[in-house]
Amino acid sequence: MSPQLIQIHQADPAAIRAELIAGLSAPVATIAPKYFYDALGARLFAAITELPEYYPTRTEAAIFVAHADAMACRLPAFETFVDLGAGNCEKAARLFAPFHVKRYVAVDISVDYLRDSLDILRRQHPHLALLGIGLDFSAALQLPEEVGAGPRLMFYPGSSIGNFTPDAALDFLRQVHGAAQGGGLLIGVDLVKPVAVLEAAYDDPLQVTAAFNRNMLRHVSRLASADFSLADWQHVAFFNTAASRIEMHLQAVRDVTVRWPEGARQFSRGERIHTENSYKWRIEDFAALLTQAGFHDLQHWTDTQGWFAVFLAKAN
Ligand code: AVI
Repeated sequence: MSPQLIQIHQADPAAIRAELIAGLSAPVATIAPKYFYDALGARLFAAITELPEYYPTRTEAAIFVAHADAMACRLPAFETFVDLGAGNCEKAARLFAPFHVKRYVAVDISVDYLRDSLDILRRQHPHLALLGIGLDFSAALQLPEEVGAGPRLMFYPGSSIGNFTPDAALDFLRQVHGAAQGGGLLIGVDLVKPVAVLEAAYDDPLQVTAAFNRNMLRHVSRLASADFSLADWQHVAFFNTAASRIEMHLQAVRDVTVRWPEGARQFSRGERIHTENSYKWRIEDFAALLTQAGFHDLQHWTDTQGWFAVFLAKAN
């Protein structure tokens, strides 16, 4: 029997177009980072995670390898393991055995991303109850009742929390606290480190991150019927120390006019479109954020260089 799939989020092309045009028309033009991820963008992100300069994915994986058993001893009681942004479900699957997971719920923006991964999991773990949910949880984390009563262990790896501003992260973590139903949260967080290390991770010499950033313009051109020409735009990434975040931008290499059916925007040479923030946290600040969101009994594990942290927190 195939795993149950529930699609909640329905893409509304008119709303997407309106959002994109509003962002492009703003005094400082912006495009939300969710528009990185068309089919090619998802593949480019997977390639980024293989780059020697992009340390977060492998550093987090090493923390789980080293400490999964210690984490398992400290987990709150839970009935369901809820994976937010599950994708290929691989990170979660490595924890099924040490955490004795019996019921797994994978959440991602579309069940289309989950179908194949859940089918593979069903064959590998025939006794595991599986559910896939298509939901844009960055807008609102409202899980359907099919997820089940009882405490949940919410799993949010990869430092995706870094793509929220601190205020938005607090709001999101409060929602996660509510959704945990007295269980807990296991979350990966990227930490402040030398600027050269951070900047190389977001501006790699092979220019995979540049391709990931610029590919967004192809995606946006399709969604908003805009006429971006990739040759007009270059990738810019730097660490903003005051805000403790990597910023990614697309910078016009000459004066450019971008047109779409309802209007146009002129960009002067050097003008930028802000495409992503990736906040880097200090352990004590992230612990304070979790506490403010309602979590307690915090624990964390880091790698030997102190570059990345995995936090476990209780919600009961
Ligand atoms: C998905 N997210 C955690 C990545 C990050 O590091 O902020 C996205 C990314 N952007 C450029 N490289 C990777």
